[in-house]
Amino acid sequence: MKKFLSLGKQPIANAFITPDEGQDEFFYNLKVGFDKETKLVSHMDFVDPPLMFNDSYVYHTSSSKTMIKHFEETAKMIQERFGPNRILEIGSNDGTFLRHFGIAHGMGIEPCENFAESTRQMGFMIYSEFWSNKLSVEIVGRHGRFYTIYSANCICHIPNIKETLEAVYFALDENGIFIFEDPSLLEMLERNSYDQIYDEHAHIFSITALNNLLKEAGMEIFSIDKTQVHGGSNRVYAQKEGGPHPHDGTLELELEQESLAGLNEVKTYTAFAKRVRNSKTKLLELLHDIKDGGNKIVSYGATSKSTSVFNYCGIGTDLIDYIVDTTPDKQGKLSPGVHIPVVSPEEGFDDSVDYAFLGAWNYLDEITKKESEFLRRGGQFITHVPEVRVLRGEPICQP
Ligand code: TMP
Repeated sequence: MKKFLSLGKQPIANAFITPDEGQDEFFYNLKVGFDKETKLVSHMDFVDPPLMFNDSYVYHTSSSKTMIKHFEETAKMIQERFGPNRILEIGSNDGTFLRHFGIAHGMGIEPCENFAESTRQMGFMIYSEFWSNKLSVEIVGRHGRFYTIYSANCICHIPNIKETLEAVYFALDENGIFIFEDPSLLEMLERNSYDQIYDEHAHIFSITALNNLLKEAGMEIFSIDKTQVHGGSNRVYAQKEGGPHPHDGTLELELEQESLAGLNEVKTYTAFAKRVRNSKTKLLELLHDIKDGGNKIVSYGATSKSTSVFNYCGIGTDLIDYIVDTTPDKQGKLSPGVHIPVVSPEEGFDDSVDYAFLGAWNYLDEITKKESEFLRRGGQFITHVPEVRVLRGEPICQP
């Protein structure tokens, strides 16, 4: 594994704390590397999953309209295209996807007990454990194999990718499909969105790496969709080698595109690391200029991505007064590491705000629609994606 980037000392990205919890806060050194053999981009040292995914986990899939709509459409598409009689979701969070399947048809794996329990209350069978070979064997023993296994923004969270895919292979019917979506490495490089890298994202997947890893596990990709969610993601459709689904040519197209973009070469990643360092310098310069001009800056969306940016750049309450976020579990707490207070938009997004850093830049459309009044009265958004700049007035294009 070749190290190419260091994002410094980072906390658990979603561990919002109360003021007295500050002293015991966990930090680790975030270093990212490229595996020349599999072409996988991963953390050099993984954070132990129970430190991140436990009964205090605060990220709700249903916290944005964009994601609610995305999972409604995805569920509908899967039902129409594959008509599964049973679906197993790995990482079912608060049931935003699963709820579109009847309780007799959907089953979930969710290690965060708070979400496992609330989804059980909806009537679903949920295993509140981490996905592993052991769990796969247990589930197959009790429920048989699944025709459809689905996972969104979860497979990239699991350090041991080899075991993860072996466990999927074991639980999958001979003719079954494994559909999963995660942020795209190509999109991250193109948007310079280095904040995709935080503890939970143990890997940032390219199609090239997934193709290699799935092959090793006895599976093959037969189709790929590109989606705009989470700053650009790939939805991969895989089956057991020689399975019944025809290949539609998208794999070859993506492999070619990634190869042309240099994703198989170390030098692409060292160039990216340089752009990341420049982005940090420019963001700090811009925030200092704005602040020195007597303006009030807040941050919009207490995201894991913003934890990564603020800790890497050393941005605290000297520059950002507070963060506004709609998630009740984050409000009244301090952001991880740099300890910026989080308040509700009703409390904090008022006329006193001059600038808002887009912590949730991936929801630009949703946010600018909602905050048209802020823009009309001269309020301005700041983003670092794809480059550091100020966004003013409407219409604003998605980065
Ligand atoms: P995500 O980027 O990991 O999906 O997290 C989005 C966070 O941003 C989540 O805490 C909810 C918050 N958010 C707002 O506070 N207001 C909004 O309008 C949107 C879209 C998200």
